[in-house]
Amino acid sequence: MTTLEKKVTRLEVVEPKQLNFGKKWDYAPAPEATDFVKIKPRYELFIGGKFVKPKSGNYFKSINPATEEVLTEVAEANEADVDAAVRAARNAYEKYWSKLAPAERAKYIFRIARQLQEKGREFAILETMDGGKPIKEARDGDIPLSVAHFFYYAGWADKLEYAFPGRKCRPLGVAGQVIPWNFPLLMAAWKLAPALACGNTVVLKPAETTPLTALHLAQIIQEADLPPGVVNIVTGFGKTGAALVKHPDINKIAFTGSTEVGKGIMKSIAGTGKKMTLELGGKAANIIFEDAPMDQAIEGIINGIYFNQGHVCCAGSRLFVQESVKDIVIRKLYDRIQTLRVGNPLDKNTDVGAINSREQLGKIKELVESGVQEGCKLHQSACELPKKGFWFPPTFFTGVAQSNRIAQEEIFGPVLSVLTFRTPEEAVEKANNTAYGLSAGVWTDKGSKIFKISSKLKAGVIWANTYNKFDPTSPFGGYKESGFGREGGLHGLLPYVKLVR
Ligand code: NAI
Ligand code: MG
Repeated sequence: MTTLEKKVTRLEVVEPKQLNFGKKWDYAPAPEATDFVKIKPRYELFIGGKFVKPKSGNYFKSINPATEEVLTEVAEANEADVDAAVRAARNAYEKYWSKLAPAERAKYIFRIARQLQEKGREFAILETMDGGKPIKEARDGDIPLSVAHFFYYAGWADKLEYAFPGRKCRPLGVAGQVIPWNFPLLMAAWKLAPALACGNTVVLKPAETTPLTALHLAQIIQEADLPPGVVNIVTGFGKTGAALVKHPDINKIAFTGSTEVGKGIMKSIAGTGKKMTLELGGKAANIIFEDAPMDQAIEGIINGIYFNQGHVCCAGSRLFVQESVKDIVIRKLYDRIQTLRVGNPLDKNTDVGAINSREQLGKIKELVESGVQEGCKLHQSACELPKKGFWFPPTFFTGVAQSNRIAQEEIFGPVLSVLTFRTPEEAVEKANNTAYGLSAGVWTDKGSKIFKISSKLKAGVIWANTYNKFDPTSPFGGYKESGFGREGGLHGLLPYVKLVR
């Protein structure tokens, strides 16, 4: 037995609590101030350029999942409210938006981008409070990327003829867009920006646990003086989303969320002629070869699964390690998760924030339990979790078989399944052995291997020697049960136009 193997064996029997890595890495608290962010006690629906009371008369609470504190109450749109929003969008489409010169459309979208950029700090804090993600993720990731998407697509609005050379394109009409809670503002930006740039009007349904940034975006849209009804925002639960999807006057559906709901939406619109794009779950393979730059790879793996609590559809949730470096990778991974700072998402040093909801925490726990039951070895950070709120420590499993649930099902939490391989062919075969195909990662020093492996992986996005990097110019989307259609880049324009000749 090599020294490393001994270390690993010992690692597996030592109680994590005794190691106490946490203390060595403590930082002084550095909480972001929240006093200049005004959260209203109540938010209405945004329809026809105004904030209006819901016909349903109902409101629901949005909480901070890190504290369970109620932040505000939000209107719940019923079928009649959704109908009013779709009518407003249709009216705006016929009357203003489809008649406006493309360069004028661009000005409005640029205006949204600039105002969002100016209010970046406010939006980052809101995103963190409403959804539980660390402020450094919201501040350095979600918000600047959202702004970048508005800027990028504003630029396309009057250049569509160059996007589809030799073809003429027209907008589709009214787009119904349903988005999830993991990147609330970013998903709104991904969906709104290309739709508006192409000349469509929109009804957007944010997720029930994270409606706040979309509602503050509605305020920006109002201040930017967009013609009334070009963007409408209806808050509510799955029922509200279903009412939007089923509405007969919608021309295009864009959905990001669970595979289960995505499949249901496909069924419900079959035969209606509505255009659609789906971005569903994932079970990405991060493949690490023996010649990979090891420390860089470990950081990439950590970033790929633990930052944002693993609430990322493209999270690198399956790690395939070449057997010759298995021990060192596991050791380094184990040591590194002990140093991740888990806790107050508003603290600027926090790496891993709160789980988005009690339901999501329940789902994570159930799947982790299944891993233990099926005989996989559990390794966890010894960090202390806050008493209130929804939390799960950074976790990984070794001894995982392809058939285990934790190797097949999307956990959507800070939980990594480690598997091994011997040859590149085996890595590809195992990586592709999933119902999903959203993203993947390849770690190796050899450029030729990157090309060889990535051309064989069935995934929409493949990162090499990096992970979870986004840019508005590059398309994103999946294969198989991860959905279809692309968002981002030039490709992201196509779902919002019809090519007429
Ligand atoms: P979900 O798919 O239920 O929710 C996503 C959005 O769809 C929300 O706005 C929700 O209100 C809406 N919705 C729900 N039912 C609907 C229906 N019948 N018709 C139209 N809209 C509907 O996802 P949920 O329950 O929040 O999370 C469950 C699992 O889904 C997660 O554990 C994760 O595995 C996966 N997920 C994947 C995401 C991704 O980015 N691909 C994002 C969120 C969740
Ligand atoms: Mg919330």
